[in-house]
Amino acid sequence: MTKHFLTGAELAPEELGGILNRAAQFKAERDALAARRGALAAKTVALIFEHPSTRTRMSSEVAVYELGGHPMVLSGSNMQISRGESIKDTALVTSRFVHAIGIRTGSHSTVVDLAAHATVPVFNLLTDQHHPMQGLADLLTMQQRFGNLEGRKLAYVGDGNNVTASLMVLGAMAGMEIAVATPVGFEPEPAAVGLAESVATAGGAVELTNDPQSAAAEADAVYTDVWVSMGEQDSDAKKTALAPYQLSGDLLAHAKADAIALHCLPAHVGEEITEDALYGPRSAIFDQAENRLHVQKALLEYLLS
Ligand code: CP
Ligand code: NVA
Repeated sequence: MTKHFLTGAELAPEELGGILNRAAQFKAERDALAARRGALAAKTVALIFEHPSTRTRMSSEVAVYELGGHPMVLSGSNMQISRGESIKDTALVTSRFVHAIGIRTGSHSTVVDLAAHATVPVFNLLTDQHHPMQGLADLLTMQQRFGNLEGRKLAYVGDGNNVTASLMVLGAMAGMEIAVATPVGFEPEPAAVGLAESVATAGGAVELTNDPQSAAAEADAVYTDVWVSMGEQDSDAKKTALAPYQLSGDLLAHAKADAIALHCLPAHVGEEITEDALYGPRSAIFDQAENRLHVQKALLEYLLS
């Protein structure tokens, strides 16, 4: 059966563990030719971007190259989908040329539609509802910092968005407690909460609150993301509502003494995060960005094996 990776919930918990361990191995052995060549030899992976990207574009292109494959980076605006060609026909045709398709697109229904018609694996490089590749990198970052994930508490503060959804789904699957603090009206989608609860393993749980300090209490990691996501209208009212949810040294003081700060990037210093939280000694944010590369390799190997 063709494997897909659209929300992360497609994985079995033991497959998630396997991908994280394999990613750690790719990370440790990056310079060893044996580890990086082979999995994608003579394979082409289409990487379609309908929204801007720095980390996802670079990590996925380098991952395919280092696994011996050919990354075919495509801008949605240069494809016939921009002139109305259907996702179904795009999926049917692209599947004739390449061995897997990654896509960053505005609507989650597009990636679901693509996977429904593609005959090769489809993986999500961000939609309005999920960003599971980011979630894998976030779990690897915490696993490497803490030594384990089960029973660890992650606090997410800010806008309940696509990144929040993937943290809830993959974190709950890994047995983590995910405490999400948002203003009223900016909670994560109930469907994402339900999906996370449906894949939670023992100890895995999602808690929603409007209080950032109670979410951060005793947390092992405190995470935030931008207040205005791609494709969303900028809004002063939203920024005002989110101001008390900033990830700062003051908020980190409520977490465990050795808690780390996380952010998927790009960051807006002075909005959702302070300079000290982003660049200070408790920041794991640039390791987190690097880990996009290693999990991307492990996921591609999983999808194509
Ligand atoms: N975190 C993330 O997905 O970054 P990009 O938008 O730069 O790819
Ligand atoms: N929530 C952000 C994540 C960017 C990586 C967005 O969708 O723009």
